Amino acid sequence: MSSLILKLREIINNPHQLDSTKEWIPLGDEDSPFILVYGKALCFSIIKSTEVAPSNLLSYWKTITKAPVNSFPAMEAYFKLTPFSLHGQEHFVSRRALGPCYKRIEKELPNWISEFSENFFRAYKNNETISTSSLVVDYINQFNREILAHELSIDSNDLPAMPGEMAHMITTYKLVEAYDQRLQILVNFIEKTLNNIGLDMSEAWSLVSITVMGTEGLAGALLYGLANKPNKTDIWQAEDLVNLSYPVTLLAREPLCDLNINGLSLKKGQRLYVSPALASMLTNVNADETPDIPFGMGVHICPGKRISLTVINAFFNAWSHAEALHPRISKVKFSRDFILRAKDIT
Ligand code: HEM
Repeated sequence: MSSLILKLREIINNPHQLDSTKEWIPLGDEDSPFILVYGKALCFSIIKSTEVAPSNLLSYWKTITKAPVNSFPAMEAYFKLTPFSLHGQEHFVSRRALGPCYKRIEKELPNWISEFSENFFRAYKNNETISTSSLVVDYINQFNREILAHELSIDSNDLPAMPGEMAHMITTYKLVEAYDQRLQILVNFIEKTLNNIGLDMSEAWSLVSITVMGTEGLAGALLYGLANKPNKTDIWQAEDLVNLSYPVTLLAREPLCDLNINGLSLKKGQRLYVSPALASMLTNVNADETPDIPFGMGVHICPGKRISLTVINAFFNAWSHAEALHPRISKVKFSRDFILRAKDIT
């Protein structure tokens, strides 16, 4: 497993070695190897197919961290409820449960996000060298706390720690376990607070999903925008930034039965890594009319899309006022795993 993952990581970080006249590549030489799909048409067909379901990424993390049985109970509970890994009717039910909470946040967000973002940058001292990656982690952490505080009518300082980042392709048991513990503490706190104010406790997992799902893709986009200048406008426009940065690199999928899609024969359960991000990078933009799909498409399309676009625009508007005061932000080096990541170069 780990050599396949290393190979996958190597390819997605050097996508120009891929043959752009083909649409997929096997990652091993066994009968039903893992497959990386990077052709646009094939990506679209697989994502749209009702016979292909999302893989359970929690099982992936359990395997690569060699976790004992019953590890990561909070994530186990979360993955049973979040639409991310569900299919069919279960997915539909979970998505419907998430809807009202996300809609409420989308509606409220424009009322406070601009001021929040301006205040965020104001709190940074002028002339200090700023770590770009810490700036983004800090912003998203405070933003997640603010959303939860609004929803729960409490002060953001009263919240426990946010779970932080988790979706790394290569990680350790200790890191995932610590994440799981923070997730459990957070959900317990939210359930208790909802109960105290007489609200429906079942919303706790929808609220938690903001801090789980929203964190890493958003971070990738903000980091890319800080490290690069927009080419069409003075200030980054969220849609341009997300179309260019494609923060989510891979979607993991598995056929529910043996099937043939666009001439590619697949076995039930065979692991597919589908990458509209690579497809976009390898496509000649002038010759291609297919839309970009950085937020996915079909039934799993990102429900946080509108929230993300609002936040990204507010972040870069506020940054355009603060940038001149903070000329020394660190350079970063990008790499990809499931998500676009960046590290400061020291
Ligand atoms: C720039 C930021 C973001 C990008 C590029 C992004 C991208 C994506 C993509 C590509 C998917 C589809 C996954 C699949 O088909 O398997 C997805 C799913 C999802 N995203 Fe986002 N996302 C972002 C931010 C957010 C935020 C801020 C939230 C929450 C507020 C969020 C919540 C979710 C959820 C719950 C799903 C699962 C949906 C389902 O399976 O039905 N995302 N996202």
